[in-house]
Amino acid sequence: MTQASIWERILDFSNRANPYPFYDELRRTPVTRLPDGSYLVSTYAEIAALLHDPRVSSDINRNPAAAAAGATAGDDGEGPGMSPTFLSMDPPDHDKFRRITMRHFGPPTTPGRVAGMEARMAEIVTALADNMTAHSRIDVVDDLAYPLPVTVICELLGVPPGDEQRFRVWVDVALQSTDPGLDPETQQEKRAEAGKELRAFMEELVEAHRRTPGPDLLSAMAADDGPEGRMPDEQLVSTGLLLLIAGHETTVNLIANGALTLLRHPAELQRLRNDPDLAIPMVEELLRYEPPVHFVPFRTALDDIDIAGTTIPAGASLTLVLASGNRDPAHVTDPDLFIPDRRNNQHLGFGGGIHLCFGAPLARLEAQIALTAFATRLENPRLVSYPPPYRPSPFLRGPSHLLIDIDGIAARQ
Ligand code: HEM
Repeated sequence: MTQASIWERILDFSNRANPYPFYDELRRTPVTRLPDGSYLVSTYAEIAALLHDPRVSSDINRNPAAAAAGATAGDDGEGPGMSPTFLSMDPPDHDKFRRITMRHFGPPTTPGRVAGMEARMAEIVTALADNMTAHSRIDVVDDLAYPLPVTVICELLGVPPGDEQRFRVWVDVALQSTDPGLDPETQQEKRAEAGKELRAFMEELVEAHRRTPGPDLLSAMAADDGPEGRMPDEQLVSTGLLLLIAGHETTVNLIANGALTLLRHPAELQRLRNDPDLAIPMVEELLRYEPPVHFVPFRTALDDIDIAGTTIPAGASLTLVLASGNRDPAHVTDPDLFIPDRRNNQHLGFGGGIHLCFGAPLARLEAQIALTAFATRLENPRLVSYPPPYRPSPFLRGPSHLLIDIDGIAARQ
């Protein structure tokens, strides 16, 4: 494999359904220098080491590849020219803004927020399954994998029901920035426009919640007078958008990838049906075996870094191939087998180090509930075709639709 062909193969849509043989090839060279001077890291130990290395920056404004691609601060979905969120900051700012946000989302200050949504999640999934009753063919993406996380994140943030129709199209455009296959110049204008719309939408929402606070996360953040002070409004708007987007786009893929994997492993589907407790380790295995986030792009070496016999020079851009590390045979035995109750499921599905996924507890719970309902309520689910159509991005990977035939919907338990 020539170095020049590596990006072409990453972008090649025909690899989307099964990129794993390509990752096997990549791992023969744990750290590869690409012709543009950036580095691709594909083995578990090296990715994990770099995720935890303070010499590796997440600040997108320091990254040469992001600059070349026309990406700027705030391009974690919100659109160009916006203030960055903690996703693309380094300490100490990253830690401070993550802490201020976490105060309203999880322990130690708000330990009940995610657990408190469990019953509501079950209710949403039950209603979604009930809606399938009259149908013999359903789309797992449109009928289950998308509506659950989008409803949950909207309720958590305090986004009114119905607004989803408004932001969905902007999010689709804004997220194309994560697809390096698109010509940056032609996309930039559309992205800027979508970014502006999203920003105006979130500004309005923050204002409304400040005037009339509710029990939601945005209201809490808008009124925060915690020990570290309030987040500046500009930052609050960006963070609200980050949570809105990161909070559902990835989880849709986890649920859809999970349903597809179960249909391709009928014995495991049957085991889950018989033993819903299996959902907990199964979701961890899915995050290893079919992770929604395949790459972490735009990291920057702040110093020369010696790793796996290579020196990554200061200033170089790094891409960490999480999905390849997850299938590294040096880390996990039989990596290409889906074994829901395997002992080692230390995976990179949520990244690692200080940027480890903020929403992991929420995403885990949603996927556990959705996949348990998928196994227990859908009678005799069968794939209509394999592979299903995939979304274009090689970074956030998952089916755009997943059609299945069913014999019916089992009664609620
Ligand atoms: C299955 C679903 C999800 C997956 C696979 C996923 C994956 C990831 C990954 C790999 C990272 C690390 C990015 C990096 O190192 O640059 C990350 C960070 C993040 N995720 Fe998630 N995520 C999911 C769901 C969520 C949800 C539900 C939320 C919000 C409620 C969320 C919010 C965030 C935030 C805010 C960050 C930035 C954390 C930081 O920089 O400290 N994610 N996620």
